[in-house]
Amino acid sequence: MRIIVRDTAVEAAEHAADLVVDSAGGVLGLATGSSPQPLYAALAARVADGSVDFGRTRGFALDEYVGLDPAHPESYHSIIARDVIGPLGFSPSRVFVPAGSGTLDEVDARALDYDAAIAAAGGVDVQILGIGSNGHIGFNEPGSAADSVTRRVDLAPSTIAANSRFFRSAGEVPVQAVTQGISTILRARSIVLVASGAAKARAVRAAVEGPVGESCPASFLRLHDEVTLCLDSAAASQL
Ligand code: GLP
Repeated sequence: MRIIVRDTAVEAAEHAADLVVDSAGGVLGLATGSSPQPLYAALAARVADGSVDFGRTRGFALDEYVGLDPAHPESYHSIIARDVIGPLGFSPSRVFVPAGSGTLDEVDARALDYDAAIAAAGGVDVQILGIGSNGHIGFNEPGSAADSVTRRVDLAPSTIAANSRFFRSAGEVPVQAVTQGISTILRARSIVLVASGAAKARAVRAAVEGPVGESCPASFLRLHDEVTLCLDSAAASQL
């Protein structure tokens, strides 16, 4: 695991962007949340100046809420369209987001197909990740197993509370999600995790220095040979 620390999130995102452009024309694993936004902005600037082209790149998102209309502005379908497909110039037909709507049986069946779709595309070249303040990656909450695959999960109360800032109230936040599993994520050829702010410092320390195990899902990244953490100094402050 390589750890890159920069003064600001914007500087850390520039380093992450250097690593992500290698996936252009291949397969990029896409994260949502506020953490990757400076990275997407850095990539959008490179698209605008013509130094990279994602038009033929395939994208696979990490996760999606269950039971939220894909057209809802906070669905990950909407966020991927807004933050990634538009600004980075992906072809919409080449970007895939787990299905969170329909009956639960349909959601489960489509989750089962997701890992096969990634494999059929040749596997993820570079997986972008954020980290939850409880150490989650994607929506793999504490307790997620190393061999987990894409599946429907319950969200931790702390995740519902953290994500309520995007909704009118905590009661509106979905209580379940579909997420790529830990083993799905670890199948990527390389992984770039971005984290910024003091609120992530404890989770970053647990991921880097704590035991490898289910209590901090991000700690499983230490089982992979090609992982880079791009941190601002606040997120790295407890290392
Ligand atoms: C969300 C997402 C994760 C994200 C994390 C942190 O709930 N499912 O993919 O990395 O929580 O979010 P943020 O970057 O907004 O702090």
